[in-house]
Amino acid sequence: MIPLIGYDNNGQVFDAGDFIIRKIKSEYINKAVELFQIYRDNKLHNYGIVKSQHDEITNYLIHEKHVISYPHEWTANMFKEAVLFHIGLFKELDKFGLTLKDAVPLNILFDDCKPVFIDFFSLVKKENLKDESWLTSGECSQDPRLIVIIKMLIPFLLIPFVVLYAKKYNEFRNILFNKACNSSLGGTDWSDLAFINNAPLKIKIKRKVKAVKKCLSRDEIISSMDDAIIRLKKIKNIASKKGDDHAFELLLNEIYMLINNCDVTPVSSAYASYYEEKNEIFNFTDKSTWKNKQINVYRVLENQRPKQVLDIGSNTGWFSRLAETLGARVIAIDVDESSIDRLYLYSRENNLRILPLLMSFQDFNKELYGLIDEDPVYAGRDFVNNPMLRPATQRLKSDLVLCLGLLHHLILGMGDSFCNVFSVLGELTQKTLIIEFIDLSDPLIRNEPSYFKNLSSYNKNNYNMEIAIAEGLKKFSSINITDSHPETRKLLIFQK
Ligand SMILES: C[S@@+](CC[C@H](N)C(=O)[O-])C[C@H]1O[C@@H](n2cnc3c(N)ncnc32)[C@H](O)[C@@H]1O
Repeated sequence: MIPLIGYDNNGQVFDAGDFIIRKIKSEYINKAVELFQIYRDNKLHNYGIVKSQHDEITNYLIHEKHVISYPHEWTANMFKEAVLFHIGLFKELDKFGLTLKDAVPLNILFDDCKPVFIDFFSLVKKENLKDESWLTSGECSQDPRLIVIIKMLIPFLLIPFVVLYAKKYNEFRNILFNKACNSSLGGTDWSDLAFINNAPLKIKIKRKVKAVKKCLSRDEIISSMDDAIIRLKKIKNIASKKGDDHAFELLLNEIYMLINNCDVTPVSSAYASYYEEKNEIFNFTDKSTWKNKQINVYRVLENQRPKQVLDIGSNTGWFSRLAETLGARVIAIDVDESSIDRLYLYSRENNLRILPLLMSFQDFNKELYGLIDEDPVYAGRDFVNNPMLRPATQRLKSDLVLCLGLLHHLILGMGDSFCNVFSVLGELTQKTLIIEFIDLSDPLIRNEPSYFKNLSSYNKNNYNMEIAIAEGLKKFSSINITDSHPETRKLLIFQK
């Protein structure tokens, strides 16, 4: 069992291969079992809480295992979906007397295109939230759920969302990675928005925060929640006719509507119409027009029927969809915001078993360590040797890996080495790798040299198929070579 580094103070989570195990601290077992019963009796998995069982002998919770993806890897509309899902969950859980003690995107994973809430012990009974001393210490509030908004929802979900809405993708992804909750690099605050000028959303959300802060601050404390509601109302038309208990719900509704009304779909990039321009949007059922590339990839997929396929440089996902139609679950990776978000929207609408992620090949080894916390509740957790955010090479291993139309970008464009590329692909591939080799004489390379910044460093002696094969065979045991399209391209099919 591999320990997964996390800051659950009531239990600890392990990757047990086919599922996830959550061990429960002995002093929390009664509460955990009570929570589990509420979860089971009300079928809360239907609301997106991870499918779970309680093992009465060991007292472990056993959770369904999903591919681990991190918020900084989600496409723009996936992040929006996750924020709406999280806010919606507060509202749904309320019906069962439950709430969430935090609001961070790392508590969510995607089951293909659907968000799932995985942090079981973020669930608390509403009346127990005030006992979370780390959350409420020093604060004074009638409703501790408002503190969850201030300390969690705003810095970890809403501030990144504002940055996304401003289409500052690098900043958005850096904030999510570097400033994830409990990361050693610290949390987000409003200064993270300093670079955004005139973002109306920023102003709106800032006003909301101010309003909530006013409700909580000591001098402003408010003899009754009526006062708070008046303030909230003043700022953002909260139509409250319902009374004190509803400040939280009203605020949540406001934020939900605000987020829902924001279109975050990236502007279409040159790459987003790649298949249209290449005339390669082939019909999946009529193969008569397919070229060698499509036919030969299809043959391998049909022959091997992999359970999980990783499509690196998927673009808008023609090959991801091909693999999906043949029964695979697919993780599709691309670095182009627009192409990969399009794939997400398409897959979500059509219920495809595809998990699109925005990631660059160069980031596959990226990892991040958490804060070292010496609190005895975390005794035995090895924060030094286990990264909090684990590298993609460990998380995305798949039976079959597709790397089509990409190798020349990695080497001639990014200046990566054959050795490094095959070392990463070797780690990711469990059985079969299909990689396309594109020769220097390829019309695309000859006609678009500006696409390939490092082209001048390469010639037939240091960039050729034999080098690719030799490097590949250091990680794989056999190779088969077939045609691609046009003739300057070949498919190298490596097997472990
Ligand atoms: C030529 S297209 C190939 C699309 C598809 N694999 C195919 O063969 O039909 C290359 C794709 O790789 C993506 N790409 C380029 N560099 C990348 C990188 N470093 N990491 C991930 N994707 C990358 C591009 O955004 C583009 O969508």
